[in-house]
Amino acid sequence: MSSKYRLDNSSIYIPGTSIPYNKLGIEDSETLHLLEGELLKEAYSIFYDELTDETKFDESYLKSLHRRTFEALYEWAGEYRPFNMSKGESRFCQGAYVASESKRIFKELEKVGWLREFNDRNSEEFAKMIAYFQGELIALHPFYELNGRIVRLFFDMIALYNGYEAIDYGKPEEYIKASIACVQYADTEKLTEIIRRGLKR
Ligand SMILES: Nc1ncnc2c1ncn2[C@@H]1O[C@H](COP(=O)(O)OP(=O)(O)OP(=O)(O)O)[C@@H](O)[C@H]1O
Ligand SMILES: [Mg+2]
Repeated sequence: MSSKYRLDNSSIYIPGTSIPYNKLGIEDSETLHLLEGELLKEAYSIFYDELTDETKFDESYLKSLHRRTFEALYEWAGEYRPFNMSKGESRFCQGAYVASESKRIFKELEKVGWLREFNDRNSEEFAKMIAYFQGELIALHPFYELNGRIVRLFFDMIALYNGYEAIDYGKPEEYIKASIACVQYADTEKLTEIIRRGLKR
């Protein structure tokens, strides 16, 4: 990671808020959220159009999803975080280990052909594998912000590549519960069930 963007936690957010500093100087969370939504929608169509037989769902692909989706807004788009982060009772991968953990996860994902070989079997097995790797990336929480949306975009691209529609993750509260189980107990059962239900041809 370039040292230029080694921001610490306190330099990311406008003091006293959960609003990240951004290139447009937006200080209103609703406006920012709407804009992020627009950028994400655009990204879905851009990255969908770019899918080819040669697409590798590797670490640089994940980083490019984050960077290209949000670089108009955030300096740190596509950069891994260097500091520790937690949400509620959950502690994500320690900042010092994000890079090496990411390498480990993506090596494993490459070993199974970025899930392509699971598609031929059945969607049950495919859902299970997506949940396993998605759980790993949820626990990694590699970026400063927008992890949830980029992790889901990443697996939606894998789903689309394999002839499925984008995954319907259902209720956000259920997704958070499933994420908590992944991060705190390495338990991907809830997430598997959500993905199994949300995966459609
Ligand atoms: N208490 C928690 N324990 C474990 N993981 C959590 C918890 N709360 C949220 N998460 C995970 O972190 C993600 C949110 O991370 P972040 O805020 O960086 O991204 P986001 O795109 O703003 O999220 P989202 O759109 O999913 O709310 C969630 O999607 C979920 O996977
Ligand atoms: Mg968020």
